[in-house]
Amino acid sequence: MIAHLYPLPGNEDFTAGLCRQLDVPGGLLSVHRFPDAEVRVRFDTKPTSRIALVCTRPGDQVLPLLFAAHAARMQGATQIGLVAPYLSYLRQDRVFNPGEGLSSRAFGELLSGAFDWLVTVDPHLHRYASLDEVYRIPSRVASASPAVARWIRQHVREPLLIGPDAESEQWVSAIAAAAEAPYLTLSKQRLGDRSVHLSLPDLRGAAGRTPVLVDDIISSGGTACRALQLLRQAPLAPPVCIATHAVFSDSAHADLLAAGAERIVTTDTIHHVTNAVSVVPAVADAVRHVAVVTDRTGGSA
Ligand code: R5P
Repeated sequence: MIAHLYPLPGNEDFTAGLCRQLDVPGGLLSVHRFPDAEVRVRFDTKPTSRIALVCTRPGDQVLPLLFAAHAARMQGATQIGLVAPYLSYLRQDRVFNPGEGLSSRAFGELLSGAFDWLVTVDPHLHRYASLDEVYRIPSRVASASPAVARWIRQHVREPLLIGPDAESEQWVSAIAAAAEAPYLTLSKQRLGDRSVHLSLPDLRGAAGRTPVLVDDIISSGGTACRALQLLRQAPLAPPVCIATHAVFSDSAHADLLAAGAERIVTTDTIHHVTNAVSVVPAVADAVRHVAVVTDRTGGSA
């Protein structure tokens, strides 16, 4: 099992919760940014042989992460895990136009070269069947679905779950089953980074139900806003909007409220004012599992 969990800046609260669940001490890692924007990392708690770094949106802190993994090995760590509650760079999973790179694979290669195992929550797997297609280290996925389903059961009367596109069916169906609620998915056509076309089926049979829009990520908010606008016109109660990952770029949160969301709820994979569901227990289970498997196999899954 791991001996210490070290948060990258901004991940202190999530790491503290994880330390409590796992009964593992937290370690201190400081990241200093020089005036020229270069960074230096320093372990203020000496790393032991098995440690894990905690960093959501690792794409935003990739150099400190890689430097920390390198520094930990220099100081004797032999097995370094990465807990990335939101795993960046999975959305570009195909070369769509000639000349483009493939950021999911490039990022997967980078992290696989520095870490021995990976834990994340609801990764955006659309055209990849599993993380093993992108990462060559053992990985374990924690699911937010049971906790989200619990929240829906406790807070929403007569829910009707709605996935905004075909790929959302994987998590909407799981949440609907656990919440014992009906679900449907919309058809979506992406028109640009922030703009989508959605069509709503005939919802007259669901009159009076509370629509619960469920997605894995809210980024620009374009998908959720369009869905909320359509749901507002249907003969349903005011819509609730739930997402696992609160990326919320620019004005996305305000845009969703303006589009008519009665309530916006996210999990704590990314710290945000809308966090109402914790995935810490699910992540702790995943860490226990992957750390034990990695111990047994010496790193090869
Ligand atoms: C799509 O593939 C995802 O499941 C989300 O619907 C999408 O990432 C949301 O992005 P945005 O908030 O920018 O519409």
